[in-house]
Amino acid sequence: MPVDLRQHAALMTPPDPQSLAFLRDRRVGHLATANAAGDPSVVPVCFALIETAGDPAIVIAIDEKPKGDPRKLRRVRNILERSDVALIADQYSEDWQQLAWVLVRGQAGLLEPGAPGHAEALLALRLKYPQYARMRLEALPVIAIRDLSLTSWQGSDAALMESVRPGREELAALIRGRRSVRAFDTRPAPREIVEEAILAAGWAPSPHGRQPWRFVVVESRERRYALADAMAATWRAQLRLDGQDAAIVEARLEKSRERLQRAPVLIVPCLYLEDLDVYPDPDRRRAEETMAIQSLGAAVQNLLLSLYAAGVDGGWMCAPLFCPEVVQEALGLAPALIPHALIPVGYAARDPVRRPRMPLADLIADWQ
Ligand SMILES: Cc1cc2nc3c(=O)[nH]c(=O)nc-3n(C[C@H](O)[C@H](O)[C@H](O)COP(=O)(O)O)c2cc1C
Repeated sequence: MPVDLRQHAALMTPPDPQSLAFLRDRRVGHLATANAAGDPSVVPVCFALIETAGDPAIVIAIDEKPKGDPRKLRRVRNILERSDVALIADQYSEDWQQLAWVLVRGQAGLLEPGAPGHAEALLALRLKYPQYARMRLEALPVIAIRDLSLTSWQGSDAALMESVRPGREELAALIRGRRSVRAFDTRPAPREIVEEAILAAGWAPSPHGRQPWRFVVVESRERRYALADAMAATWRAQLRLDGQDAAIVEARLEKSRERLQRAPVLIVPCLYLEDLDVYPDPDRRRAEETMAIQSLGAAVQNLLLSLYAAGVDGGWMCAPLFCPEVVQEALGLAPALIPHALIPVGYAARDPVRRPRMPLADLIADWQ
């Protein structure tokens, strides 16, 4: 069926809910500004929609600082000269029935730090883009577009709404953004974020739905140091077994010890097999335990994603797997709690180097 480019166009003021939902879901928009003489400029932007009391606004962070002054950015200079702006957010698909866009026109201005709405704007941007949670934006102005009027177009009646799949793009951003952090700054990890992450872990799939994992949170400095000391002895013995040079062993030990001591919170995911089925034969017993371990991995991934979504990072350390009794003793754990990993949690001191990922063609070993 040919697409009629005029059929679905409509000018809508005040903003209709469908177009707002489409806008809310877009990750990127293109912001058009012009200076007093009318010279146009357009840039791709990350943006968030704020919907207070039926008066929606679009906010855009300024995270680039040309020579320290964000007001030197062309889009900002233009807005200060002329407040009329336009922003377009679109969806492209090879199936042109699925094409859709929403064009926003409005009046832009700068929300200065501390001004009413600045904190709310940062919160909305950080909720939408976890990357912003890690940037220090408090001292920078935010662009706010108000008095919105929306024009929308869609390739078929349902394209605008069908393209709104809650969470899909955010989930992809979280999955790709999560990273193993091994160095933390001194900020404490908020308790509610840690609790939320453990709740997220609890939503992992598990064999028979028995949830064969428990989490031990180690926050006290004294306990973190005791755990690091207790594990250091095992690490030393194991590294020496590998025939490593004593100086190198001590240097590596110091790094690992520092990791546990500097992270404000450690989470120890433990395998908990008490509620699983018990089989008379070793094959099924082993399979049951493997399932529990697989499920623990899924739970840890949920935990890491939840932390990352809240702007906090973690890193997976396998050390307890090599000395579960040492960890049990150092933390005074019940024997049913089998430590399988250690997740230092906190705010990243710096962005870690990420490893490249395999392309799809390598990931799919076979498709029959
Ligand atoms: C089961 C498991 C054990 C891991 N153990 C460690 C570890 O002991 N120390 C460490 O620095 N990273 C450890 N990692 C993290 C990996 O090195 C990391 O996930 C990998 O390099 C990819 O980097 P990314 O997590 O930033 O994507 C472990 C990861 C998994 C899944």
